[in-house]
Parts: sequence; structure tokens; C-alpha cells
Amino acid sequence: MKSMVKVFAVFIAVVMFASFASAQCKYDHDNKIVIGYSQIGAESAWRVANTESIKAEAEKRAECFELKFSDAQQKQENQIKAIRSFIAQGVDVIAFSPVVESGFEAVLREAKRAGIPVILSDRQVDVEDDSLWVTFMGSDFVEEGRRSAQWLVDNYEKVKREDKSMDEVNIVELVGTVGSGPANDRYAGFREVLDNYPNFKILASQSADFTRAKGKEVMEAFLKAHGDKIDVLYGHNDDSALGAIQAIEEAGYKPGKDIIIVSIDAVRGAFEAMVEGKLNCTVECSPLLGPQMFDAAEDLVKGQEIPKRIMTEEGVFPMEVAEETLPQRKY
Ligand code: AHR
Repeated sequence: MKSMVKVFAVFIAVVMFASFASAQCKYDHDNKIVIGYSQIGAESAWRVANTESIKAEAEKRAECFELKFSDAQQKQENQIKAIRSFIAQGVDVIAFSPVVESGFEAVLREAKRAGIPVILSDRQVDVEDDSLWVTFMGSDFVEEGRRSAQWLVDNYEKVKREDKSMDEVNIVELVGTVGSGPANDRYAGFREVLDNYPNFKILASQSADFTRAKGKEVMEAFLKAHGDKIDVLYGHNDDSALGAIQAIEEAGYKPGKDIIIVSIDAVRGAFEAMVEGKLNCTVECSPLLGPQMFDAAEDLVKGQEIPKRIMTEEGVFPMEVAEETLPQRKY
């Protein structure tokens, strides 16, 4: 009799725990919400932090969500395969960060036909029909390009080497992945501002694919071709600029002094380089999109309307604030 009471008590405890656990989920759904996420890869510190943010949020909300995570290793064909596999598995929501803007139309149509909503996380796609995705969350990349240029025109005179002239300021540019949203937009935003300052000239511009290795390689080529003529480096991301810093030092120049450097992301590595006086300014692009993504997925499953554009708020960090800001950086 005693053991029956025990079994009953355990049963009640399990039932109570299960209902308490499901009460933690804010939606009315019998099962967990399944999100299929296709990540680009691990090309930069930014991307690694983005993956961590998504996985950490999935762990935090494990009672209510299941995350199916797929790493495309920088290849669009792998992203398309992953999305098709999410459709076949019947996930509740698909989210992805598209490696390039074009070429996703067909697979997004398949998702729409299957009735699975698609969240664009971090990057935009170029499709004619906007109903193929429900929301785009992330940064304004054009604005990041503008902010980089604005910091440069506002501060170059103050930070430049004394013997350098203001009459002609020669810039080299490390572009991101060809055809990607951030590369296209940061390229455009930067030029939009510089068009008003004809003394700032873009001497050379080439893709470094958002990686350190390529940043170093392309900067070596820029230095070979233009050497002393280079006054400024604009990196579409911090990783490529950090690679370039190595090339600049190996060529016998002082990064941050002989060549003024502005780049985008605001990752810890950039702050460390600024503390050492090797990078002059980083423009923030936050990778911490996990919480927003799960909130949006939950709202979608609950049938709530969500905004078509969810914008991330970001700042600009010049070298002078690097030391005090570094300890608070989350990525
Ligand atoms: O899409 C965001 C960009 O992708 C980041 O700026 C870059 O570092 C990353 O690889």
C-alpha cells in the first residue's frame, strides 16, 4: 500500500512538473516549436558570436523550442539543401542568414507552398516577391557604410600622420563576400557619403570574403601595388582589417598611424587592436540576434503579426573609447 502511495506521489510530481514546464512556454502548442536554421559558416568572429547567440538562446528555451542547426560552410548550395531538408522534416519555422542575396527564390517558394514561414536573420535576399519571407531582422548595412565614411571625413585630419596631406586622401577597401547583402550595402553607403568629399579617393577595392586570411592576402597586394600612397584602409568587417594589419606591419608600416583604419563589426579583436593603437575606429554590427529570432518564431507560431523589418541598434567606437569599452563587450 505504502509503495502504491509512493508511485502515485511520483506520478503527481511528474505531471505537476510537466505542466509547470509547459507553462513556461508562452504559446499554446502541444509540441515544441521546431526551428530549422541555416548558418553561413564560421568565416569571422562575428559569425561565431552569431552562432553562439542562437545556440545559447535555444538552450535557454529548450523546454519550448527545438533547434535544427545546419552549417553551410560558406556555400549557397548547402544552404538550399538545408532549407529543402527543413521543409521535408516539416519544421515550424525556417530561419537563415543568406550567404549571397540572389538565387534563393525557388527554394523560398517551396517553403511558402509548404506553409512554413521564413525569417531572414542578419542578411537580406533579393527576390521579387516579398511574401516569400515574413521578417528581416538585423543591421542596416548601408548605414554602417555611411557611418564608416562619416567617421573618416570627420576625423581624418585629427588622426592622420602630420606629413600627410588633406588634398588627396587615398583609400583602399576590403570588400566582403561578393554578392552578399553586407558587401553590397557597405560599399554603397560608404560611397554615398564620400561623393560629397572629392579629396577622399578610393584607390583600390577588392573582396577579402570577410576573412582574416583573405584580408592579409589582399592587403599585401594593395601594398605591393600602391605602397606609400595608401592613407586609409576601409574594411567591410573587422576580421579582414585584422588580417590586413598583419600585412601592414610585415611591410614595415604602422597600422593606425601610417595607415588609418576603419572597419565594421566591433568584435573584441577590433577593440584589442584599438587598445594597441593599430585600428582607429570600428562601426558596430551586432551578431546577438538569438533572442529576437526565437521571439519572432514564437509570435509566428502563435499567429501574431510581426514587423517586416526588425532593426538592430548600434554604435560607433573610435580608438579613444576602446580601453573603457572592451571589458563590457559581449562578443
Ligand atoms: O552579415 C554580417 C557580416 O558577416 C559581418 O559583418 C561579417 O563579419 C560576417 O561574416
